[in-house]
Amino acid sequence: MTAFLHLYEHHVARLAEQGLRRQLPPPSDRWLADFSSNDYLGLSRHPEVLAAAHQAIDEYGLGATGSRLLSGNLALYEAFEARIAQDKQAESALILGSGYQTNATVLAALMNPKVLGAEPLVFTDRLNHASLHHAFKVAGIRQIRFRHADLDHLRELLDKHANSPQPKFIVAETVFGMDGDVMDVAALVSLARQHDAFVYLDEAHATGVMGPQGYGLTAAPGCHADLAMGTFSKALGGSGAYVACSYAVKDYLLNTCTGFIYSTALSPVVVAAMLKAWELLPTLEAERQRLMQTAEGLRQRLQQMGFDTGASTTHILPIILGDETRTLQARDKLQQAGINVSAVRPPTVPAQTARLRLALNSGHTAEHIDALLQALATL
Ligand SMILES: Cc1ncc(COP(=O)(O)O)c(C=O)c1O
Repeated sequence: MTAFLHLYEHHVARLAEQGLRRQLPPPSDRWLADFSSNDYLGLSRHPEVLAAAHQAIDEYGLGATGSRLLSGNLALYEAFEARIAQDKQAESALILGSGYQTNATVLAALMNPKVLGAEPLVFTDRLNHASLHHAFKVAGIRQIRFRHADLDHLRELLDKHANSPQPKFIVAETVFGMDGDVMDVAALVSLARQHDAFVYLDEAHATGVMGPQGYGLTAAPGCHADLAMGTFSKALGGSGAYVACSYAVKDYLLNTCTGFIYSTALSPVVVAAMLKAWELLPTLEAERQRLMQTAEGLRQRLQQMGFDTGASTTHILPIILGDETRTLQARDKLQQAGINVSAVRPPTVPAQTARLRLALNSGHTAEHIDALLQALATL
């Protein structure tokens, strides 16, 4: 045992004192109602998705056996990428191992000052996901942050740097995972075009549930990003991620993105299942409508009860309580009543905005919502 191991214990003890210690939740199969899962359309258990996985395991075996650039490339992956590109109205697409890996390594590769000839100016929404921040750390880029979803502020910042020869990027989510509000993608893209900025948008929480046929907000006319990424880990019910981009950007990533080059490809079992889930999306319009209607009804009830649901307009509803300890106590009380919700605290969200995060899915019934509201009434 090295002499400094106790420092890790001290660090966690300090987090605990501040109400910020993270712990694994109890196993999640015993809830009366679960509002913590990102399986927004219930696709993780859809019979056709599971059948595709079963078939793939017989056909391909379990693992990809190598990086896509070595032994791990299959026609299955290329077919899925072609389908993603078509539905995202992009020239091409690339599948990667996870959303975190994608943001951390694709974005870092794109911002490489040596390739760009200068350090880029990168304009970022204040509430962007940790995986996007990771890319800036890796690339050593200082972010120019705009107020959350505030395009007037973004315009001001872009104007301030209008004469700079440095390449510009705008990086944001389309549906924000901890707040459940939506970026005005058409306005953002239009602003970016005026400033010749590269638009990088994260559709993790929009993929499957928003935009034309559920293919995300960047699939709509006038909303195309230079690169749109999304995950298979939320509404598609599996894991992995995609980017939709130009041929040139894909080619560049094949040659420079460490998270693609040096990582074993996703299992063909997962890819086959996710392709099936992706193909099912256009057929799930009724599920999407039910999801958004349930969310709207719940939002109104929560607001009537005096809860602060922030700027949420989607299937993700925060109940912003502010204080970390109070948020943990509320989460524990709900869990004791059989209702699973997530307690989200800084640094995942800004200071003083600790919250319960409710993630709805299309399988939630009136009984689930009633059970949640009853438990919330006791807080
Ligand atoms: C906005 C956003 N981007 C990226 C990710 C990472 O995706 P994955 O879980 O596939 O690694 C998440 C998931 O937590 C997310 O919320």
